[in-house]
Amino acid sequence: MARKKVIVGNWKMNNTIKESLEFINNMKYKMDTNIVDVGICPQYLALSKIKEETKGTNIKIGAQNVHFADNGAYTGEVSTKMLEELELDYCIIGHSERRQYFNETDETVNKKLHKVLQTGMIPIVCVGEVLKEREENIHFEVVEKQVEAAFKDIEILEIQKCIIAYEPVWAIGTGKTATSVQAEEMCKYIREIIANLYSKEVAEKVRIQYGGSVNSGNAKEILNMPNIDGALVGGASLKVEFIEIIKAV
Ligand code: PGA
Repeated sequence: MARKKVIVGNWKMNNTIKESLEFINNMKYKMDTNIVDVGICPQYLALSKIKEETKGTNIKIGAQNVHFADNGAYTGEVSTKMLEELELDYCIIGHSERRQYFNETDETVNKKLHKVLQTGMIPIVCVGEVLKEREENIHFEVVEKQVEAAFKDIEILEIQKCIIAYEPVWAIGTGKTATSVQAEEMCKYIREIIANLYSKEVAEKVRIQYGGSVNSGNAKEILNMPNIDGALVGGASLKVEFIEIIKAV
């Protein structure tokens, strides 16, 4: 069975609640599609209103991050229990900006993944090497380690619910996209890792996105690759251009 493509916009720390609502209202009829899964991950404060605003459409809504505890003394954090009330569709885990600026490790990514899998949200697990690692030609090793650590003790039925996003850090927000060949090569490799950890059959079901400076100009070529099942889009998801990326599918 063919894997359905999935395009998710990660708005990061952009758009006030008002701006988020304006964007969604201007675009929602264009994003509402059955052919491809389309999601938006706005900032936490806008989630509730955006969720309401997109009711009755096919647009999926997700969180950009979550904590691994249910509640407790974790100032500034949000738990899966809190997000569950909003009936969200996705939750991004282990984005490289979280790893880089907020000390997320492979271990916390794994804890978060376990937690999110107890909810109705689909986890989008991010992995990817930094520039130095690619230059040293250890990018396959690095990504393999990240995937193995993220999915530690994750059951075979659970992995099938997950989306993996391959996001080379050097391509994020830099305008420097990986070539479609580089992106395909790593997404294929990630599928092989999943096949080794679980089975070939399971690996064929897991959706693997590419992320890193995806835009309306390069989307078609990237999304045409056999092992790339969608895109995690940052900068371009804040613009009307996002529609063009969806159309590229
Ligand atoms: P970018 O971000 O499209 O702006 O490079 C991608 C991401 O961080 O998911």
